[in-house]
Amino acid sequence: MALSQKIQTPSCTYEQPLGLFINNEFVKGVDGKTFEVINPHNEKVFVSVHEATEQDVDRAVAAARKALEGEWKTVTPTARGRMLVRLADLMEQHCDTLAAIEALDNGKSLSMAKADVANSANCIRYYGGWADKIHGKVIDTDHETLTYTRHEPVGVCGQIIPWNFPLLMWAWKVGPAVAAGNAVLIKSAEQTPLSALYMGNLVKAAGFPAGVINVLSGFGRVAGAAISSHMGIDKVAFTGSTAVGRQVLQAAAKSNLKKVTLELGGKSPNIVFNDADIDNAISWVNFGIYFNHGQCCCAGSRILVQEGIYDRFLQRFKERAQQNKVGDPFHPDTFQGPQVSQLQFDRIMSYIDQGKKDGATVEVGGERHGTEGYYIQPTIFSNVNDEMSIVKEEIFGPVCSIQKFKTEEEAIKIANGTNYGLAAAIHTKDLNTSIRVSNELKAGTVWVNSYNMISYQAPFGGFKESGMGRELGEYALNNYTEIKTVRIRLGDAMF
Ligand code: NAI
Ligand code: MG
Repeated sequence: MALSQKIQTPSCTYEQPLGLFINNEFVKGVDGKTFEVINPHNEKVFVSVHEATEQDVDRAVAAARKALEGEWKTVTPTARGRMLVRLADLMEQHCDTLAAIEALDNGKSLSMAKADVANSANCIRYYGGWADKIHGKVIDTDHETLTYTRHEPVGVCGQIIPWNFPLLMWAWKVGPAVAAGNAVLIKSAEQTPLSALYMGNLVKAAGFPAGVINVLSGFGRVAGAAISSHMGIDKVAFTGSTAVGRQVLQAAAKSNLKKVTLELGGKSPNIVFNDADIDNAISWVNFGIYFNHGQCCCAGSRILVQEGIYDRFLQRFKERAQQNKVGDPFHPDTFQGPQVSQLQFDRIMSYIDQGKKDGATVEVGGERHGTEGYYIQPTIFSNVNDEMSIVKEEIFGPVCSIQKFKTEEEAIKIANGTNYGLAAAIHTKDLNTSIRVSNELKAGTVWVNSYNMISYQAPFGGFKESGMGRELGEYALNNYTEIKTVRIRLGDAMF
C-alpha cells in the first residue's frame, strides 16, 4: 500500500500521509499491516493507513532515544520554543485542511473542527512560550553548600490519545512534553488516525530534528499496550476510558515504573439553582452535554435543577435540545454530527434502551437519527434514580439525565455521589453560593454560569477515578520534568 493518497472532502482536496511517522519519515509498519478508516457520516471505508505493531513501537522508541541523546540535546530552549511556535503557525496555515480531516474522520462539524484547530495551535504556541522559562531554584541550605535544582526532561514519552478530539489531544500531549525537552512517540486512536499523521508533515516543516516527535497509528491492545509496558519509555500519558487507564497504570507498574498521567472519564454534574439566569443556564446546559455529540470526558451529563424552576427549566431545555441541528458535519448549520463509530453508536443506544427498561422517562429523543451514519437524537431522561446505569455510568453520547433537588446540601451530595470527579458546573447569580458550592464539589474543574470553558493556560484533570495529574497550563510541565538536586560543598571541611 502507498504511503500517501489524495483525499477529496466536501470542502477540500489534499494529500493524506498514510505511513507511520518515525524519524521524520513516513514508513510502512514492520509487519506490513494496514487498517481501514471509516467515515461516520456514511459508515463507508474511505482510506486505509499503515498499522504500528510492537516492533514499530520499538523503532519509534529507538528514534526518540537517539534524538534525545543526540541533536535534540544540543538545541537550546529558545530554539525549541521557536520550533513549537513555527509548528503553531503552520497549523493555522493548514487550518482548512486539518479541520476537513477532523470532520471527515471523526464526524464533528466543520465549524467546531476549525475551533479545535485554532485551540490546538494556540496550545502549541503557548508551550513554545514556556520552553525557555523552565528552570529550577537556588536553595539556601547552609553557608558551606550551594544547593540548586534542575528541571530536566523525563526522557522518552509515550502518549496515547483518544478519538473525540484527535488534533487537540495531540497538541495537549506534545506541547508540554516537547517544550520541556523530551522526545515523544504519540499513538492516535484507531478510529481517527488521519490528523495526527498530517501533523507529521508540519513537524518536519517546523524544523524539529528527526526522532523528536514520532506518530504511530495503531490499536490499543497492540501498539498502546506495547507503549505502556515498554522498558525504554520513561513516561506515559494516556487519555481515554477509566478501564484502559487502569491497565496502563498496571503495565507501567509491572514494567519499569514509568511515570504515569491519566485523563479519564467523567459523569459531571451541572447544577442549576432557583436564582440562575434561566436563558443563560439553558444555553450552557445544552452546550455542556451536546457539544461534540456528548463525546467529551467532561460532558455535563447529570443535570440537577432546583425545584423552584424545575418544570419551567425542563420545558425550555426540551425545546432547546430539539433545535440542535443534527446532520452532515460539512453542512454549515450542523451542530451535532454522527458518533464516531458503530461501536460507540451501539454502546450509546444500549444505554438508552437500558434507561427505558429501568423506567426513566424519555423527555426528548431516545432514538437513532435518520437511517444512515452513526447519528443519535439529542436525548433527555427524567424520572431517574441513582441506581440507574444512565445516571451512574459514562455514556459518552448525546444523552443526559435531569434530576430535581431541594437544597444546596442535597445538590452537593448528589453531585459528589459518583466515582468520577472531572468537572462540574453551577448556575446561580449569587456569588456566595457559587464560591461555597464550588469549594465543596469534588471535581478538577468547576465552571460557574458556563460550561466546557477549557483554556490551554489553566490546568485540567480529574479528582477520584477521573485521573491522575493535570494537563495544560504551567502545571502540565510537572509531568514532563524530573527534578534534580545538586549540592556543591564550598568549604574544605571533611566528613
Ligand atoms: P479506549 O480507552 O479504549 O481508547 C483510548 C485510547 O487508548 C486509544 O488510543 C486506544 O487505542 C488506546 N488503548 C485501548 N486499549 C489499550 C490498552 N490496553 N493499552 C494501551 N492503550 C490502549 O476508549 P474507547 O474504547 O475508544 O472508548 C470507550 C469509552 O471510553 C467511551 O465510551 C468513553 O466512555 C471513554 N472515553 C473517554 C475519553 C476521554 O476523553 N476521557 C476519550 C475516549 C473514550
Ligand atoms: Mg473514523
